[in-house]
Amino acid sequence: MAASPLIERLKELKAEVASLPAPADERALEGLRVHYLGKKGSVSLLSQEMGSVPKEQKPEAGKLLQEVRASLETLLAETGARLKRDKIQKEIEQEFFDITLPSGEPEFGARHPIAMVMDEVVDIFTAMGFQVEEGPEVETDYYNFEGLNFPAEHPARDMQDTFHLTNIERLLRTHTSPVQVRAMQKYGPPLSVIAPGKVYRCDADITHSPMFHQIEGFTIDTKITMGDLKGTLQAFLRRLYGPKTAIRLRPSFFPFVEPGAEVDVSCVICGGKGCRVCKHTGWLEILGAGMIHPNVMRTSNIDPERWSGFAFGMGIERIAMLKYGVDDIRLFFENDLRFLRQF
Ligand code: FA5
Repeated sequence: MAASPLIERLKELKAEVASLPAPADERALEGLRVHYLGKKGSVSLLSQEMGSVPKEQKPEAGKLLQEVRASLETLLAETGARLKRDKIQKEIEQEFFDITLPSGEPEFGARHPIAMVMDEVVDIFTAMGFQVEEGPEVETDYYNFEGLNFPAEHPARDMQDTFHLTNIERLLRTHTSPVQVRAMQKYGPPLSVIAPGKVYRCDADITHSPMFHQIEGFTIDTKITMGDLKGTLQAFLRRLYGPKTAIRLRPSFFPFVEPGAEVDVSCVICGGKGCRVCKHTGWLEILGAGMIHPNVMRTSNIDPERWSGFAFGMGIERIAMLKYGVDDIRLFFENDLRFLRQF
């Protein structure tokens, strides 16, 4: 029996497909797919004619059709993969980075003005021989008040609006003075300490912040007097605000010093002539100070008959506000880069 014309055409198609050159690009590839396998492509049309093949020749025709379809699909898949690889390779070559090219200006971070002032104050005192000590921000009532000669229920405790922690017998320290007691107990005299750190008070307006920074300082030795206190603070404030800075001490009260004093500097804005900042007095209040109270010494087993000492404590934000002419303390904590970039 002679082969059906469809079988002859399938054989011709098989030979044609076997000798096809690989398509050169995506468009040629798609053209090839449509030409042979599309709805009206030659393979699809031939498969529709399968019904006309005599029954006994059907297996041969079916096999040929399968072979043609398979070799077309292999050609399309392999070419598709190769074109994709070539495309990626080309992209990699075009996107080449020259890592030796200089980059743009890097943006450096900068120190916060409060940290800068704090470092400056600490440097001045360490140069005078003070050692740096730090204490915990979460304190006991004992170190924050009792050990500093504030008896329980003493009205002086009202001077400081304290954040008490619930459930535990702790509070957020309201000043850096607890480090006095801790350092005295740890080292004993003679001793000169500077203690920087964060403190907390329930207080907020343009000159008061609920969290702020203080620096405490004290010296204990034999024969320490108010004269040593005044000389030390004068040397410090002249280093900080310039050699013409004058200071004065006014009597004041803190339970942990006796006598106690508020220390003023000649106005850093007008030089003492009188201006808006110093409220036309020529003086600015800058820190609290005094001679360490005998009761505080006794708490730390230091004999007040043999040893004496001075102590002082200052707010860093206040010093920074005066140094940089900032009139609102909140600016230091808002993290506005336009403000911070000025320092
Ligand atoms: C004290 O805290 C004493 N411990 C200082 C001291 C130490 C006196 C040693 C004697 C001997 P006072 O409460 O005055 O004192 O606070 C000291 C400074 O902290 C003030 O002068 C002020 O500059 C700053 N300060 C107080 N409250 C705030 C606040 N809410 N925000 C920012 N600064 C504040």
